[in-house]
Amino acid sequence: MAKPALAYVCRDCGAAHRKWSGHCETCGAWNSIEEDPGLSAAGPPAKTLGNTKGRSIALSPLSGTEAPPPRRSSGIAEFDRVLGGGLVPGSAILVGGDPGIGKSTLLLQAAAAFARAGAPTIYVSGEEAIAQIRMRATRLGLDDAPVQLAAETNLRNILTTLDTERPALVVIDSIQTMWADHIDSAPGSVSQVRATAHELTSFAKRRDVSVVLVGHVTKDGQIAGPRVVEHMVDTVLYFEGERGHQFRILRAVKNRFGPADEIGVFEMTGHGLAEVTNPSALFLGDRAEAASGSVVFAGIEGTRPLLVELQALVAPSSLGTPRRAVVGWDSNRLSMILAVLEARCGVSLAGKDVYLNVAGGLRIAEPAADLAVAAALLSAVTGEIVPSDQVIFGEISLSGAIRPVTQPDLRLKEAEKLGFSTACVPYQMKRVEESGISVRRVQDLPSFVADNFSKAL
Ligand code: TYD
Ligand code: MG
Repeated sequence: MAKPALAYVCRDCGAAHRKWSGHCETCGAWNSIEEDPGLSAAGPPAKTLGNTKGRSIALSPLSGTEAPPPRRSSGIAEFDRVLGGGLVPGSAILVGGDPGIGKSTLLLQAAAAFARAGAPTIYVSGEEAIAQIRMRATRLGLDDAPVQLAAETNLRNILTTLDTERPALVVIDSIQTMWADHIDSAPGSVSQVRATAHELTSFAKRRDVSVVLVGHVTKDGQIAGPRVVEHMVDTVLYFEGERGHQFRILRAVKNRFGPADEIGVFEMTGHGLAEVTNPSALFLGDRAEAASGSVVFAGIEGTRPLLVELQALVAPSSLGTPRRAVVGWDSNRLSMILAVLEARCGVSLAGKDVYLNVAGGLRIAEPAADLAVAAALLSAVTGEIVPSDQVIFGEISLSGAIRPVTQPDLRLKEAEKLGFSTACVPYQMKRVEESGISVRRVQDLPSFVADNFSKAL
């Protein structure tokens, strides 16, 4: 009997399965497998290459001079910075993010700036009607920009149009609404997203056009994620931020033409997204003076120093298992710091609810924030206040030692620029440059606790 065809696919990892199951064995996700009749077209081919010989290809040496890729400014400096200096012709860029975060707004603004600079630009929306896009453009003050609009989801029609129009930039908003007629499944399914993204990225290469694909990601991954698309494109940017905050971060998570991890900072205003050139000032903007549990961390995002406020709150718990709630940081890392505080310093937070928040809706991934988190927790638990003119950074190891972190000088310079006068830094850090900031070196967590939070002991 013939084996059943691979007709089910995991929308998280894209693995194909013969039958439905509640659990994807490839990536471990639950409830992520769905039927996808178009899969056989995108799945493994029925035939193999066989024995017919191809022609041999010319091989090239690794050395040789290659000019850096030419770049075109998108017209938005923060966007260019995240791209590594501007748009590279022939490259495909995926901009992912939660619905409603501001992707369409950002790309309409970028398209308008690009078109105003004289480059032919096409904005294709599969989600909004022309009238809606025009209304948005009027609100953003962009209605005079020479952007060509289309409301279309049929990929064949779009590619035919692009072939004759020859634009320099194409925005496809969003990839989940696009539909290729040679695939059976519905728009937004894994095989459709994969096929349309593939067609559009090869179009970018073929015609030397920059193509920007917008992709929605929901928290529970309901729509076929742009994950499948990530390996096809040259650059993957994520647009993040908390809905309730006006700050938005554009982050490069993959970039074949520039550094990954670079961020651009924007503020959502009534007239669209405004660039934030001094993000530290913004993130520290509404900091309460001298509150317990509040600490300023001197961090680095990409190549840019960034000061942010960490806030902690510790309260008696009425639950058997106390709450550990974290916004903007890794909750496993918080558990680790709580364990080090308990085992190495004798500060126990068992029986207490712990809340940790990175102010402004930023997400921090750096372990360099460990010491600042510990200070915020200690300040919250003792009520002892960390001086408001002090910044803190340092990684905590399981032994309780404070380990050095990257780019201390850059962090200190930024702190000095923003008017801070002292810094707690790792002890073993290589000599820091002379600066106007007074540096306190911290050897390990127990001595840090003893020196600053006497009530904790
Ligand atoms: P949008 O760009 O449509 O989000 P996405 O394409 O990521 O789904 O942004 C929608 C949100 O942005 C909406 O909640 C309203 C807000 N917004 C502003 O605050 N100011 C503006 O000028 C615009 C155009 C939108
Ligand atoms: Mg949108």
